[in-house]
Amino acid sequence: MKAGTLDNVEVDTLWNSGKATVLMSEQIQVKPVSPVVGAEVFGVDLTVPLTAEAFEALQSALMTHLVLFFRDQDLSFEQHKQFGRFFGKLHVHPAAPKAADHPEIFVVHADETVQFVAGETWHSDVSCDVEPPMGSILRVEKVPTTGGDTLFASMYAAYEALSDAMQRLLVELTAVHEGRQYYVGRYGGDHLRDGDYPSAEHPAVRTHPVTGRNALYVNEGFTTGFKELKKTESDALLSFLRQHCASPEFQCRFRWQRNSVAFWDNRCTQHQAIWDYFPEVRHGYRVTVQGDQPYYRPSPASGA
Ligand code: SIN
Repeated sequence: MKAGTLDNVEVDTLWNSGKATVLMSEQIQVKPVSPVVGAEVFGVDLTVPLTAEAFEALQSALMTHLVLFFRDQDLSFEQHKQFGRFFGKLHVHPAAPKAADHPEIFVVHADETVQFVAGETWHSDVSCDVEPPMGSILRVEKVPTTGGDTLFASMYAAYEALSDAMQRLLVELTAVHEGRQYYVGRYGGDHLRDGDYPSAEHPAVRTHPVTGRNALYVNEGFTTGFKELKKTESDALLSFLRQHCASPEFQCRFRWQRNSVAFWDNRCTQHQAIWDYFPEVRHGYRVTVQGDQPYYRPSPASGA
């Protein structure tokens, strides 16, 4: 078996609760948590540099499952950044609070004094950037007694579930993504990277640069409309897509423990952090990996 690919995979029957576990290499095991998105990864220590085999296995698992979950990863800031750098250059968030002396570490914090928490609405991270982040890696250090889960949704599944007619309309559209609507009243203008809110235009359907699959790239957090449509049409379509993207069958739900890590691919997923634990504390750190400019290529199979 070629390490890190899904060719000739062996299936481990050790777990009999639902989905099979795929052995990616001798040590690394990947257990899907839903049919379309999310997998738990066992047998990898993220505090040390990845071997070439481990990197290939994780990269392959991320392409297949879109979000990877790890347990018991007590990462220092340097180790967290080191893991992120295996997948690309690190991104500095335009607005969010950062760890002292570590601008690449986004601090995710909620307690009894805050008015909002990061990621409460469905979104793909910083889709208002011209080159939005490819991936994000969040470690949660302090979890509330109950709650504080994060939902993840596959935007491949959301796109593929639409009728051919709706797909044909969407591939013609350009979506406008604005930082202002998401960041105003949250992080505050004074934290902004360039003193201004980022905004960008992206195809409403995005081709994943690695898998070649098409995904919906419209989200509640940042997308404000479609360039080619009248405002009333644009508002109605956005409203439908927000509801559609949040359908439970496209989702998985991750229950955090201390030092759990989630690594998601922003190009084909959205996520939503659930704030159901007020006034308790939830605290974590996110490293974000830079990405490239979204584009759309018709898939050869659909002809769309
Ligand atoms: C985020 O959007 O990065 C926050 C996710 C979370 O806190 O679960």
